[in-house]
Amino acid sequence: MLNIGKLTRAMSLLALTCSAQVIAEASPPVPSSPREIIVASCSGCHAQNGEGRWFRISDQRKTPEAWQMTLVRMELVHQAKFVDPAGGDSQAALRTLVKYFADTQGLAPAESAPYRYILEQELNTIEQHDTEQFRTMCARCHTGARVALQRRTEDEWRNLVHFHLGQFPTTEYQMMGRDRDWLGLALNEVVPYLNEHFPLQTDAWQQWQSASRHNFEASWRVVGSMPGRGAFSGTMVTAAKGDDHYSVAFNGQFEDGETLEGSGSAVVYTGYEWRASLKLGDTRYRQVLASTSDGGELTGRMFQREHSEWGLRMQAVRDTGQSSVLAVQPGHLRTGSEGSLRIVGTNLKGDVNLGPGLKVLETVSRDKDQVLVRFRAEATAAAGARAIKVGAVELADAITVFGKIDRLAVEPAYAVGRVGGNEGSQPAVQAIFEAIAWGAGDDGQAGTADDLRIGPVTAQWSVAPYTEQAVQDQDLRFAGQMEKDSGVFTPAAAGPNPERKYQTNNAGNLKVIATIEQDGKPMQGDGHLMVTVQRWNNPPIR
Ligand code: HEC
Ligand code: HEC
Repeated sequence: MLNIGKLTRAMSLLALTCSAQVIAEASPPVPSSPREIIVASCSGCHAQNGEGRWFRISDQRKTPEAWQMTLVRMELVHQAKFVDPAGGDSQAALRTLVKYFADTQGLAPAESAPYRYILEQELNTIEQHDTEQFRTMCARCHTGARVALQRRTEDEWRNLVHFHLGQFPTTEYQMMGRDRDWLGLALNEVVPYLNEHFPLQTDAWQQWQSASRHNFEASWRVVGSMPGRGAFSGTMVTAAKGDDHYSVAFNGQFEDGETLEGSGSAVVYTGYEWRASLKLGDTRYRQVLASTSDGGELTGRMFQREHSEWGLRMQAVRDTGQSSVLAVQPGHLRTGSEGSLRIVGTNLKGDVNLGPGLKVLETVSRDKDQVLVRFRAEATAAAGARAIKVGAVELADAITVFGKIDRLAVEPAYAVGRVGGNEGSQPAVQAIFEAIAWGAGDDGQAGTADDLRIGPVTAQWSVAPYTEQAVQDQDLRFAGQMEKDSGVFTPAAAGPNPERKYQTNNAGNLKVIATIEQDGKPMQGDGHLMVTVQRWNNPPIR
């Protein structure tokens, strides 16, 4: 239970220097340096701890999003103000600090790589945790990624535990808290574990700090795909505005010809964390991309700001004048079939070679960035992923050839949709499914480790009650609507529903069924959809 002793301990961790905030004299109208902003905004509570070092601030590293969350907490919980002594506005001062901390106390690319799903807002990801203790102690209120995307000294991991209990005393008497000595376990077992796995000093960060930084002004070729919409190709043109800021023009289209076009701006943090805000058509998008270490590629996800469930998994490749093949759309074809393929790349020259058993019948159109061909696949063409070539350049595993589909899977296998709208502040969160075809692989048995992933296929969609309880509660009737042709589920309106038992919300527990037809026979795959209530607090790292 909460006691004053613990609370005082948590609070006393902070050196409250009690000095008035140091506001510099009116200075010439140049924006203040990060250091000047820190002195003006933070030093009232955070004591200077050596040259350029600050108590509680300097012994941790994290992503730009995490710095933003910490700083916004300083404002919301501790009433800190972001003060630019030169008179600049406070939001600009906040942005300067986020950039400064992300650059000087960020994560190396290798450190953020395993957890990018949370930055990219892939919210249906099912996390795998190293230990059951970490899951129940730390990854039950928020993701484990929120933790694993930080590096701290052992003292700072310990302070974080005290902060949790001081700020959220319910930690101890919630489920998975009251059944154990939460604070004792956190301090004696979890802190050493975190210090071992996520220490402040690492070789990766040491090396990244001295790695060369790139200029991201370029022309980029974009390829990707958006679940619910299909394959995409386009271009992105960026122009440097100084201090790692860029303007962005974005333009491209989906397979069906629908375009996505507009512009915006970007900031590069820590030398590789690309964050852009774009307005494409009438919709605001956010790009969360990471650069490769040579600066030649940006990969990640571009999602709608208000509906992060809608996102394009994308790769942007710098056009350096070299020829490259980046994607083949669609990414699979069946032996014995005829059809068309779009080959997307940069500066494509020469003949298209699809490899043995696949014949190019006709080049329908071509320009330097894409070639559209009609093909015929021999019945005897070898199944499996294969490279394709345009002129002298090749893309490995560009296309998957299959004899037949042996199994259908639904992705995500488990998704969460949320009721919304109905005059509330939170819109409904849709659930977007894809039907993924699989082949049996060499052993001829579907469902074994060597199965061949063929890729997304068009399916017909329906939902059914997942449990007997869902039948009783008529979840099918109340929880929302599945779009038959697209796999997009739209949850029903938020709020108590007088027509339901106990006037409950339009929540539901549903089975999601994808059906395809192959050689006149139906085949099904299924997934699980939980329709639940709104999330009211949606920080950039959940
Ligand atoms: C009014 C007092 C106050 C001001 C001003 C203030 N902080 Fe804090 N700060 C705190 C307290 C209290 C804590 C410990 C509790 C917590 O983490 O919220 C803290 C903790 C922190 C931490 C550690 C968070 C963690 O997750 O371990 C960082 C980093 C930090 N502050 C940065 C800043 C920066 C940068 C500024 C200036 C923009 C600032 N603070 C201004 C009171 C303040
Ligand atoms: C009772 C729920 C709960 C539990 C359990 C919990 N957290 Fe948190 N944690 C929170 C909340 C809420 C915040 C957000 C604070 C804020 O507003 O920034 C948070 C924030 C964090 C942050 C970001 C802090 C920052 O400013 O950078 C880290 C890192 C973190 N938690 C790690 C942990 C670890 C490690 C554990 C296990 C020892 C843990 N959490 C257990 C609720 C919880």
